[in-house]
Amino acid sequence: MSVTSGLNLADLQGNILRGYHKPFVRHLVLSVDAPAAARRWLADATSGDASKAPQITNAEPWDERPPFCVNIGITHAGLAALGVARASLNSFPHEFVAGMAARNVMIGDTGPSDPSQWHEAWRRPEDVHLMISVYADDANDRTTIADRILSARGAFRLRAALDGEAFKGDLVHFGYRDSIAQPQFYGVHDPDDRRDDQPFVQVGAMLLGHATPIENLRWQVPEPHVLGFNGSFNAFRVLEQQVEEFESFLTACADKLMKDPLGEQLLPPGDEAQWAPPMTRHAALREMVAAKMLGRWRNGVPLALSPTSPSPTPPIGNAGLNNYGYSTDPDGQRCPIGSHMRRSNPRDARTVQRNTNHTRRLVRRGMPYGPHYDPAHPVKAERGLLGSFMCASLTGQFEAIQYDWTNLGLQDPRITGSNDPILGNNDPLFSRFSFPVGDNAVTFRGFSSFVHTKGGAYFFQPSMSAIRHLASL
Ligand code: HEM
Repeated sequence: MSVTSGLNLADLQGNILRGYHKPFVRHLVLSVDAPAAARRWLADATSGDASKAPQITNAEPWDERPPFCVNIGITHAGLAALGVARASLNSFPHEFVAGMAARNVMIGDTGPSDPSQWHEAWRRPEDVHLMISVYADDANDRTTIADRILSARGAFRLRAALDGEAFKGDLVHFGYRDSIAQPQFYGVHDPDDRRDDQPFVQVGAMLLGHATPIENLRWQVPEPHVLGFNGSFNAFRVLEQQVEEFESFLTACADKLMKDPLGEQLLPPGDEAQWAPPMTRHAALREMVAAKMLGRWRNGVPLALSPTSPSPTPPIGNAGLNNYGYSTDPDGQRCPIGSHMRRSNPRDARTVQRNTNHTRRLVRRGMPYGPHYDPAHPVKAERGLLGSFMCASLTGQFEAIQYDWTNLGLQDPRITGSNDPILGNNDPLFSRFSFPVGDNAVTFRGFSSFVHTKGGAYFFQPSMSAIRHLASL
């Protein structure tokens, strides 16, 4: 990372502006048992002395990649448990004070995703205080570090230890390649070494106290300044994925397209034999539907750049996978307006609230949990994504995306009233996913939600100075 903005990287937790790309994570979901001991742990974990406690990782550049990293998030109840004064607690934004479970209707956590259906560890939000995340190169290191944290002289009570493991090729359940699109920040990412051609984002989209993409306005910084400044919020979600149902849905859609003349317009017969690897027509139509639902083929190639083949000629290298917008595809002929990616980040597309387009950026840090699904040897088990969605305003960014774009589709009248086909809280009675093919449209109806929320909380990710401040209370 190169810095030109005067941001003090040593003061930021390290997982906000950069990804660690570690294959193993353990999220320790904790209650504070003994406030004084918990504060002592915070002091030890920021002391610079690793013999006292594993150190919380900051955002300074690395000479050598460390074998593990540690970061923490604290809920509103957690701040109270650590002894933060009432006036300060009241200065935090309302949605953070209320917590994720209380905001369930707003973010689509109803029906199978209702908080009453969540895993035990999340059922009493007032007891969820901290999440300490250990990212490691090695599963044994992960356990060693996590055990050291848990042995911290009676400070914490363990509610859950959630393990995630990266799949080969950055795949997630449902078989898509992830970890391609992330915001790049002014003053943090080197303009000469940029990942892609997307517009840079102001750091205030992630860090409190800095100019945001909304006309450089700033989000309110909670008090005292030392606690709020350089902090960030993390909407942490345990998202169970119904992989078998998702794959069956693709099969049903391909069955339908095989009989529909629009299927031939969508994918001219014989094209699938040119793909690498070549596919049967039915298999290719399944892949086509999967791509339309997301906005990328499962191998990461964007529909915006390659609408009819996952293996275009010439190939699109890694460096080109995020270099696209939607302004030349106003009707979604290539990438459907209702697809997961176009909903979550409309980029340069025309939208009802045009000036919100680049203002709701999220940093996404996710890792699959549960066994990989192999259709040849299906294993019944819970599987999904442990997802951190980071931003400076939970309402202005995370909730606005979930509510306004994902679940209501307010950004474009052509999708208003329909839900995100991958992520949305879909009810078979009303669900519909539609995309244009020439002058006509293909529409699929009657599917249920493929992702169920199984837990989560709104965490504040304090700066390093703020953690020391908390330790000193
Ligand atoms: C199990 C649930 C989810 C799955 C399987 C999933 C899958 C994906 C995949 C495969 C991508 C494309 C990868 C990339 O370009 O890096 C993506 C992009 C994205 N997702 Fe999700 N996602 C899930 C949940 C969410 C949630 C809860 C949100 C936020 C509310 C979200 C917001 C986004 C955003 C902002 C992008 C990038 C769009 C862009 O920049 O063009 N996703 N998702």
